[in-house]
Amino acid sequence: MTIGIDKIAFYTPNYVLDLVTLAKARGDEPDKYTIGIGQNRQTVVPNFEDVVTMGANAAIKIITADDREKIDLIIFATESGIDNSKSSALYMQTLLELSEFVRTIELKQACYAGTYGLMQARDYVATHPGRRVLVVASDIARYGLSTSGEVTQGAGAIAMIVSEAPKIVSINTDSVYMSRNASDFWRPVDRQEALVDGHLSTDIYKEMFLTLWQRYQLKTNQQLNDFAGFAFHLPYTKMGKKALDQIINEATLAHQQKLTHHLKASQKFNREVGNLYTGSVYLSLLSLLSYATDLKSGDKLAIFSYGSGAEAELYSVTLQNGFENHVPAKMTQQLLLKRQLVSVNQYETMFKSQLYDSHININSNAVKDTKLFQFLGWHNGERVYR
Ligand code: COA
Repeated sequence: MTIGIDKIAFYTPNYVLDLVTLAKARGDEPDKYTIGIGQNRQTVVPNFEDVVTMGANAAIKIITADDREKIDLIIFATESGIDNSKSSALYMQTLLELSEFVRTIELKQACYAGTYGLMQARDYVATHPGRRVLVVASDIARYGLSTSGEVTQGAGAIAMIVSEAPKIVSINTDSVYMSRNASDFWRPVDRQEALVDGHLSTDIYKEMFLTLWQRYQLKTNQQLNDFAGFAFHLPYTKMGKKALDQIINEATLAHQQKLTHHLKASQKFNREVGNLYTGSVYLSLLSLLSYATDLKSGDKLAIFSYGSGAEAELYSVTLQNGFENHVPAKMTQQLLLKRQLVSVNQYETMFKSQLYDSHININSNAVKDTKLFQFLGWHNGERVYR
């Protein structure tokens, strides 16, 4: 049975900060942000959006009546959860009006959890033919004003439906993975911003990629020339280049050009949005599928998923017949183009206006007359959504 990603959709809030403007405000060289780190813009999150609204706003784009009958499991991957007890999947089930006869669960392991969700979904479908799983990876990358991580903030959600006979990619059973307790990035429960040693994280990421690439080759006998492209977890887009540079010489010269061209395609959406932690590697996949117009069915792509702390997985997917008709390239491009540019002042105000205190009954700045799901505020310690 072929199992994989049948549908995929992306959502990010409607506000965006230009990073040249931010560099100037912070007294940095704009080229450091746009070339050295490889980011052009980042999504700014208003206080009426959170991982639940972003996840639901992504998922609603792909759920059909047929899916509603066939989805048995909602897997919500996030490291920006809104409750220590109740899963974001439950809130989303309500917003999307999905059946009560589903399993709902939230997964956490930094930026890696979406991949674990996808693997669980594949295994579930393998033992329950005909059934489907909704996997959502939704996060807010938040480091703090004027910190070195600020340029790598961002937010958004990827929603995927995993089924048999998928329309976009099949997920191959060739994963290699590893876990190692490291202090490169973490967020204690009483903090709203991550603690990060970005340089250490880059080193561990590169090392785990290289280790897993060698392990993958031993396990599968595949060579670099067997892959049409890579989708990397991209906390910032330069990271993908740093990883691929370690192995690119293993390909023929012509194939090196192809991989480099496809790497650029895989970075395009992420350059405009910033990091979205769990969803980042799947936004990169969506970007690759949207911009690498020479990809064809049967091509194999490698996916490298990394979550600080640290855990990584390398596996492959195979493009299905007619996949290009099911990739929401235009829809995603339009979503990014229509965003409203904010000034550094507006961004800082929005950054400070998040409603973290559940003890106060308070309304968010939710906008009226929108068809989007929104967080309305706190009422008696509970989050209220529309
Ligand atoms: N023009 C072009 N490039 C420039 C430049 C300029 N004027 N000034 C600096 N650069 C380059 C540097 O050479 C460096 O490139 P390199 O990494 O290829 O060597 C890059 O820009 C970044 O400079 P650096 O001095 O390392 O920046 P920094 O100390 O501010 O840290 C990050 C950058 C990305 C490490 C930091 O933003 C961070 O920690 N982000 C969070 C990352 C994360 O989330 N990790 C965990 C999840 S996986």
